[in-house]
Amino acid sequence: MTKTPLPQELIRKKRDGRELSDDELRFWVAGVTDGSLPDYQVAAMLMAIYWRGLGDRELATWADAMLHSGDVLDLSSIERPKVDKHSTGGVGDKISIPLAPAVAACGVAVPMVSGRGLGHTGGTLDKLESIPGFDVRLEVPRFTELVRDLGVCLIGQTDRIAPADRRLYALRDVTGTVESIPLIASSIMSKKLAEGIDGLVLDCKVGRGAFMKNRGDARALGAAIQAIGRAAGKRVTVMITAMDAPIGTTIGNALEVRESVAVLRGEGPADTRELTVALGGEMLAVAGLCSTDEGRKRIASVLDDGSALDIFRKLVEAQGGDPRVADDPAAVLPAARHREPITAPRDGFVETIFADEAGIAALILGAGRRRKEDDVDPAVGVELAVAVGDEVRKGQPLAFLCHNETGVDAARERLAGAFQISEHAPGRSRILEVLQ
Ligand code: URA
Repeated sequence: MTKTPLPQELIRKKRDGRELSDDELRFWVAGVTDGSLPDYQVAAMLMAIYWRGLGDRELATWADAMLHSGDVLDLSSIERPKVDKHSTGGVGDKISIPLAPAVAACGVAVPMVSGRGLGHTGGTLDKLESIPGFDVRLEVPRFTELVRDLGVCLIGQTDRIAPADRRLYALRDVTGTVESIPLIASSIMSKKLAEGIDGLVLDCKVGRGAFMKNRGDARALGAAIQAIGRAAGKRVTVMITAMDAPIGTTIGNALEVRESVAVLRGEGPADTRELTVALGGEMLAVAGLCSTDEGRKRIASVLDDGSALDIFRKLVEAQGGDPRVADDPAAVLPAARHREPITAPRDGFVETIFADEAGIAALILGAGRRRKEDDVDPAVGVELAVAVGDEVRKGQPLAFLCHNETGVDAARERLAGAFQISEHAPGRSRILEVLQ
């Protein structure tokens, strides 16, 4: 760069729909990271990007600068292919917990850096922490060792991973600029590529309970993520999946671990298993091990023969948790003191279960956070007694509130409003399309 640009010139340029050069984009992200750009200028640029977007080259450079604002893990000493899965966030989305050990059992390393719950959507870290003793704050050398030896480790984001994203995300949250496809895509990819992976499978959720409310936006987000992946030389497959109804039968941290263990035992709800098998098949294909169809068969087989459960047991033990959770979850996991049914108001079929309403009901009971600094209650949440498509009779339980006497009235009202009962049975598969 020949001369240092004035921040306001760059804001004006983007505001007016002109492209920023690579140097200008890198100057900007460096200023976000070292704090030399003030919040008001960073926020103004975010709004300009929100309206004007980023071209393919701009997006690749912006994401690369965010990625290199912090450490990139070096897992080159691990010979197995390294592939992760990211979900854009759902209700009852516990898939990472059975998926990561299952993929590891098939010979692919899964270095998974996960997040906490956001709004009405749950986070893998909160779920894992409901296992007594489970530590998600391992140092990088221990993380690398476990990925090498076991094929899997699940930790939280460290301060050194994509620090530019931390500042940008906090500003987006308070400036109405979260819902921007280039900003979401670069935010996700800056963190995922920092894991030192060879490839990624993105579970892009669409529907009432997701960030992306329609298929067009989900496709555009998937394409933006693939473009960033391509520019970084990584293989990225995007699976677009429905998030209108919660996944599986549980929402809430310990409840979701219990369901995950059932899937790892070859049991569990059909849709939780279907997503685990489908995403796992794509991960094995991204790793170059086999075709997606063959990958699905291999994942189903390690769920059924106990080898995925065995890796999960070792993973829990290695991360300080009580490994008995793999064999007798009820003896180990915290349980709510009360279990109260919500019943069907009339005969019919379950047309849908609004994921956002059910997620908020669980949050109100204490399974999620109202504010960033809140603690979660690992024991509480919602257990669904029916699935979309089931025929129900008036008075039959649709779900149970598992609670510890907090937020019960408000949660009851939310959960009752989450069920739509109709005359006709709807379709059941969640997998809408795959972008290779
Ligand atoms: N998840 C992220 O990590 N970033 C976003 O911007 C949205 C969802």
